[in-house]
Amino acid sequence: MTQQIRTAIVTGASRGIGAEIARQLAADGIAVAVNYASSPDAAEAVVADITAQDGRAVAIQADLADPTAAKRLFDAAETAFGHVDILVNNAGTMKLAPIAEVEEAQIDAQVALNLAAPIRLMREAANRIGKGGRIVSLSSSVVGLYQPGYGIYAATKAGIEALTHVLAKELGPKGVTVNAVAPGPVGTDFFLAGKSDALVEQIEKMNPFGRLGTPTDIALVVRFLAGEEAAWISGQVIRANGGVV
Ligand SMILES: NC(=O)c1ccc[n+]([C@@H]2O[C@H](COP(=O)([O-])OP(=O)(O)OC[C@H]3O[C@@H](n4cnc5c(N)ncnc54)[C@H](OP(=O)(O)O)[C@@H]3O)[C@@H](O)[C@H]2O)c1
Repeated sequence: MTQQIRTAIVTGASRGIGAEIARQLAADGIAVAVNYASSPDAAEAVVADITAQDGRAVAIQADLADPTAAKRLFDAAETAFGHVDILVNNAGTMKLAPIAEVEEAQIDAQVALNLAAPIRLMREAANRIGKGGRIVSLSSSVVGLYQPGYGIYAATKAGIEALTHVLAKELGPKGVTVNAVAPGPVGTDFFLAGKSDALVEQIEKMNPFGRLGTPTDIALVVRFLAGEEAAWISGQVIRANGGVV
């Protein structure tokens, strides 16, 4: 019998950390559904990178703030590849404001994309991913640092960590591992937007290496957790942050 190719959905894989996760998983021979919301050209460029290396990938548009998107994304990935083995909950957004000043739209955007969408995706994964499957979600090292201004964002990521611990216990009997990776600051659009060079320099100095993380620093951890070598690791949150906390 020929061995089935392993397949993954990576949410928010058109740019930043997600794009590099898609490339790293593809380098392990995994077929990747490259999800995006509004950047088709960037998503197709990631697919082209992967296919140029003889990998397999397909771009799938799904705005995960829409409650119906998780099911549609899984359906589309199954149509493309026949089955799904790995879910990487990567798409996220961050809107900084002290809790006293936080606006309704900032609450809604972060809760919808960072928390409600991963819950719906985990529900699909729990029903569709079988033995040997992997679920990896992106938390953040702000869980632990708890700086002013990060309240809503940190709450959504703390929620991801809670879901990870519970789902690991629910899916262990099925042979599926569930983990989270909590990056420190990584030099993507997400982190750099609206920050002065001086502020970025100050943040770089918060960790003992004196630099920002790179998408590859984070994607290699996800690649490990998604791989067969990580079969005995479940219910864990790995803080990939250069030792900042
Ligand atoms: N960068 C950091 O310093 C840092 C630190 C800790 C944790 N994280 C976490 O790491 C993850 C990735 O961050 P990043 O820095 O790579 O972000 P990024 O560069 O801003 O990329 C965000 C990705 O999410 C997608 N996306 C945005 N809204 C979406 C939606 N409604 N539905 C589906 N996809 C959507 C974007 O797609 P489009 O291109 O189509 O908009 C893009 O591919 C996030 O969960 C973030 O919280 C980041």
